[in-house]
Amino acid sequence: MSFDLVLFGGTGDLAWRKLLPALFQAFRHGTLPADGRIIGVARDDLGNEQYRQLIQQRFENVDLAKRPSPEEFGRFAQLLHFVRMDLSKPEDYARLKDKLVHRGADQVVMYLATAPTLFTLACEQLAAAGLATANTRIVLEKPLGHDLASNREINETVRRAFSEQQIFRIDHYLGKPSVQNLFALRFGNSLFEPLWRRETIANIEVTIAEDIGVEKRGAFYDSTGALRDMVQNHALQLVCALAMEPPISSDADAIRDEKLKVLRSLRAWTPETMAQHAIRGQYGPGTVAGEPVPGYRQEPGVPHESTTETFVALRAEIANWRWAGVPFYIRTGKRLAARDAHIAVNFRPAPHAIFNTPLGAGNRLVIDLQPRDGLELHLLAQGQENRRHLQSLTPVHLDLDFDKRFGSERVGAYERLLLDVIDGRLNLFVRSDEQEAAWRWVEPLLDSWRGNSSGLRSYAAGSWGPSAASAMIARDGFCWSEEQ
Ligand code: BG6
Repeated sequence: MSFDLVLFGGTGDLAWRKLLPALFQAFRHGTLPADGRIIGVARDDLGNEQYRQLIQQRFENVDLAKRPSPEEFGRFAQLLHFVRMDLSKPEDYARLKDKLVHRGADQVVMYLATAPTLFTLACEQLAAAGLATANTRIVLEKPLGHDLASNREINETVRRAFSEQQIFRIDHYLGKPSVQNLFALRFGNSLFEPLWRRETIANIEVTIAEDIGVEKRGAFYDSTGALRDMVQNHALQLVCALAMEPPISSDADAIRDEKLKVLRSLRAWTPETMAQHAIRGQYGPGTVAGEPVPGYRQEPGVPHESTTETFVALRAEIANWRWAGVPFYIRTGKRLAARDAHIAVNFRPAPHAIFNTPLGAGNRLVIDLQPRDGLELHLLAQGQENRRHLQSLTPVHLDLDFDKRFGSERVGAYERLLLDVIDGRLNLFVRSDEQEAAWRWVEPLLDSWRGNSSGLRSYAAGSWGPSAASAMIARDGFCWSEEQ
């Protein structure tokens, strides 16, 4: 199969950091169809050769193990082309069309790795230029809008040019091998399914902690905030994977139908739950990995009086028969104590205690997403510590490290997602109704937080966020996993 992948934003940050390295890895692994072209598109005045040289220079910054040798790059470079385009100019689309029509690839992928403000313009112009043909797929990066109305508007414009089957909305968390393993754990194994419900599970924690700050994206981040940047998409997709019913098949729509039901079952916010179950924070100066770091308001591009949240902790409930009454605690933030994304499924204690167990110890399944990719099953056992009092149990755990088991050189998130786009597999992409349901759920919080700093709590960079997040969960008699 021949393909042309047109990378709008071909000299942008996402292209350098993620997309081009991922395409190179696919090329190196022999999974990228050989008969392909990668066509970078941007306003820069570059020829093919100059574009190739720029990419080669950028590749010098990637991990040594992932860096191409000059000979390997030389072969990869044959796939790389460049077209200079101003996305507002119809004549520039005509030039792109010439390049594509001339070759007539079986499959054309338009990847919009541009500022989201250009999505609707690009789709309209692609359609007007006759470039939205049946063999074309379009890939949209997040954020798709900044609220429900703007998300709908983008989706409607894109759908005027492309059918839903042609639209690939990226949530790169779905491409992570650890997230694939979450689906495998739930739907490829029968062991946990009978336990996966309110009768046995006390609560579920989803933590996506980052130790980095807003880096060079201060201005963008300040108009976004953690709720839009991480919760509306990545965190809710993880909640879907945890809470959905087993799909009837592995077809994209079978999976997406079940995820949609979860999103629609999220209990809507009320003024009371917003006050008690939605904590937001902003990092102040602190220390990360032994180094002093500035607070959010001192970051470049961030206004000194900003009220944007860099931390969110929520208590969500899924109103259906399987999950009624089980809290789902969602927490994410920048400049936290560690880079650590994991899910902790906390099971209820034994109904009748005949042993002594240490406070807080119990059965827990920890699904480590990153940086470690693994599973830990926490149990209680009789250890040898106290030979005379066998009634006392000791916490132990079974530990499965997927990187050790399968090697750490597994297919990365973007590599997997790009190959899926080229092959036309929609399973790991988000449908418009899912996205809208997720926006609908977060929107009351967005509205109540906008321009209102009264509930915004400060936390020290390098901590686990504001203490109010611990107080929220403690009211239910639980605590976050690092406090156990
Ligand atoms: C992106 C957010 O979607 O995900 C970033 O915009 C965040 O702010 C990133 O840093 C986290 O991704 P990962 O794969 O590093 O966990």
